[in-house]
Amino acid sequence: MSLLEKKSHELQQLVAAQLEQICLAQEPLLLYEPVRYVMASGGKRIRPLLVFLAAEAVGGDAGQAAHVAAAVELLHSFTLVHDDIMDQDDTRRGKPTVHAKWDVGTAILAGDGLVALAYRALLSRPSPRLTEMARAFTEGIVEVCEGQALDKEFETRRTVTMDAYLAMIGKKTACLLAMSCQLGALVGGGDEQQVAALGSYGRHLGVAFQIQDDLLDLLSPAAVSGKPRGSDLARRKQTFLMVAAESRMTAAQQQWLAAYLGRPLSNGELDELEAFFRSLGVVAQAEAMVRDELAAARGALASLTPCEAVEALAELSQQLAARAA
Ligand code: IPE
Ligand code: IPE
Ligand code: MG
Ligand code: MG
Ligand code: MG
Repeated sequence: MSLLEKKSHELQQLVAAQLEQICLAQEPLLLYEPVRYVMASGGKRIRPLLVFLAAEAVGGDAGQAAHVAAAVELLHSFTLVHDDIMDQDDTRRGKPTVHAKWDVGTAILAGDGLVALAYRALLSRPSPRLTEMARAFTEGIVEVCEGQALDKEFETRRTVTMDAYLAMIGKKTACLLAMSCQLGALVGGGDEQQVAALGSYGRHLGVAFQIQDDLLDLLSPAAVSGKPRGSDLARRKQTFLMVAAESRMTAAQQQWLAAYLGRPLSNGELDELEAFFRSLGVVAQAEAMVRDELAAARGALASLTPCEAVEALAELSQQLAARAA
């Protein structure tokens, strides 16, 4: 068992116990049933792991960070429930999404409830850095909302520059991973430089994470990712592949691609599109960028005192390069 696996196993139990306590409430059923459904549906739990490892990386202990770890997972769950409404996706983690199993109104409410439960968890224990933590948490939510707005706006833009795409994913995804690291460092008693270094690690990790997520939308079978394959193409999302392809396509290729966008696609069609994006070189470009961002994430760890947690963070960045879900 690798160091990361060992640490992850122990820390995941800690956050699971916290989340179970938080989600004990039963009634009203309309609120708590979907909330419990989402929290019981699994997920990789990367963000709480980042909180724990960042806390330990600055000399704190995981026990004092457990409520913060639970808070970021609850907040992440809110973003997923509302994201699936926005993206009209009916499957996540191999199960029906909340709006598909119940209805849109129930899913909006479950998301609202998850934000409130996330704040409740964050504020449930005193900390000398609580004001800073609450500020980072709040700013994180504002940024995710801005990122989601840009993501939605881009659906109707014919082209989006790589810079605009990177700004969008920085907000919708990287910001929550960065925030998880910063909160862990704060609750663990880290100094300003440590908080910044871990924040930078999380941001690079987050950029890599979303580019990979974009790749997996096309490359990963639904049975592996737990999400519908090709959803981004059906929604005309400006993913890394679409943005990078734009400057490499001839007019004829653009016309050919347009016929595949904005509608559900069969696996056969998705295989054709995969071959097309590979032939343009944009899959390789995405993979290279993921590798570079993960290397930059590891680089950001250089200023921290070496310890098991820092090693585990470095290992996590290596492991993410090969993720399929
Ligand atoms: C999905 O996040 C949303 C993105 C930011 C791409 P995860 O891939 O971490 O989702 P779960 O929690 O493991 O299901
Ligand atoms: C993830 O974007 C961003 C948030 C959930 C905030 P996606 O829309 O690509 O995430 P998935 O692919 O549905 O998990
Ligand atoms: Mg989505
Ligand atoms: Mg989305
Ligand atoms: Mg996606």
